[in-house]
Formats: sequence, C-alpha cells, structure tokens
Amino acid sequence: MGGSGQEKLKVLIRRAAIQKRVREVAQQITKDFKGQRVHLVGVLKGACIFLSDLVREISLDTSIDFIAVSSYGKDKQSSGQVRVLKDLDSSIEGLNVVLVEDILDTGLTLNYLLRILQQRRPAILRVAALLDKPSRRIKEVKGDYVGFTIPNEFVVGYGLDYAERYRNLKDVCILSLPPE
Ligand code: IMP
Ligand code: MG
Repeated sequence: MGGSGQEKLKVLIRRAAIQKRVREVAQQITKDFKGQRVHLVGVLKGACIFLSDLVREISLDTSIDFIAVSSYGKDKQSSGQVRVLKDLDSSIEGLNVVLVEDILDTGLTLNYLLRILQQRRPAILRVAALLDKPSRRIKEVKGDYVGFTIPNEFVVGYGLDYAERYRNLKDVCILSLPPE
C-alpha cells in the first residue's frame, strides 16, 4: 500500500499544446455550425475541464448541459456496464448537440450515450473528445472532433482521473502504478 508515493507521472501532452489544440477544435466547431446555436453536453466528470476551455473558444450562440454515467470506479478496466447517474437538465430535441468527452477508449460509454441521446431527437449529434485511444476499441465509434490520438497508456490530468485523483494536472500525463 504505497499510496501515491509509488505512482509515477510522465508528461505526454503539455498544457501549451492542449491549449492550442482546444482552440483549433473550437474554431472547427465554430466554422461547422456558422450562424447556428450549439448545445454542448459534457460527460461528467472527466470532460469538465475540456468543456470549460472549449466553450470559451467557440464564437457562437452556445448552451451547456451535463450528464454523468457510471465509470470504472477505482479499476482501470472497463466493466462494459454503463448507467446514467445524472441525466441532462433539459431536452435536446431539435438542438445541434456536441457531446463532449474526455477520452474515447473502448467506445462502450460513447456507444451507449449516442444511443440514448439519439432517441431524444436532436437535430444533429456530434462528438468532441480531447483524447482518442483507438487501439482499445470494442465498439465501433468515431469522434467528429478529436484533440489528440494517443497510444495505449493510462493517462491522467486535464480532467482525467485515477480513482478521482489527478484531475487538476495541467498536462496530460501517463500514470504508471507500482506492480501489485
Ligand atoms: P470507454 O467506455 O472505455 O471508451 O471509456 C470511457 C471512459 O473511461 C472515459 O470517459 C474515462 O472516464 C475513462 N478512461 C478511459 N481511458 C482512460 C485513461 O487512460 N485515463 C483515465 N480515464 C480513462
Ligand atoms: Mg474516469
């Protein structure tokens, strides 16, 4: 039981690179939805920091909402079981929705979310994800706006956690744990 002392962090994406890329993604969204309104739906809690930075770089009429789904808990493995813990506050019917995710990993969460949100008849439903780990895909899903494609490593920071920790790191870092 070494606690955080034996956990090692290695920077994968620096804050300046994140900032620059978030601005580019926001500009693309601004261009794609020119003259329209976009409704950003953040997936709690991992996407909260990405969404906060993203929305401020979008030059459109915007609104935001959040949804929370069950996550891995303390495990690094996906159970494949997804459950809504906190639903949206308002209807998305007829809206241009951009679902904002921290990371696309197995695709199980996104697959589930797209299915339930599509049933609510948005005008458009797109996906923005800060990170994409395509090598771990179980369900075929694709982000429309992806910040960075990364290798198969467990990462934390800029909203991403390990057992609720490290969300406050300004860089995205690879976390290595001591052997069990
Ligand atoms: P998926 O359903 O396997 O695609 O997993 C999506 C969720 O798992 C993300 O929204 C994250 O909360 C979490 N997750 C997946 N990979 C990582 C990682 O490398 N670091 C931290 N959280 C992760
Ligand atoms: Mg998480």
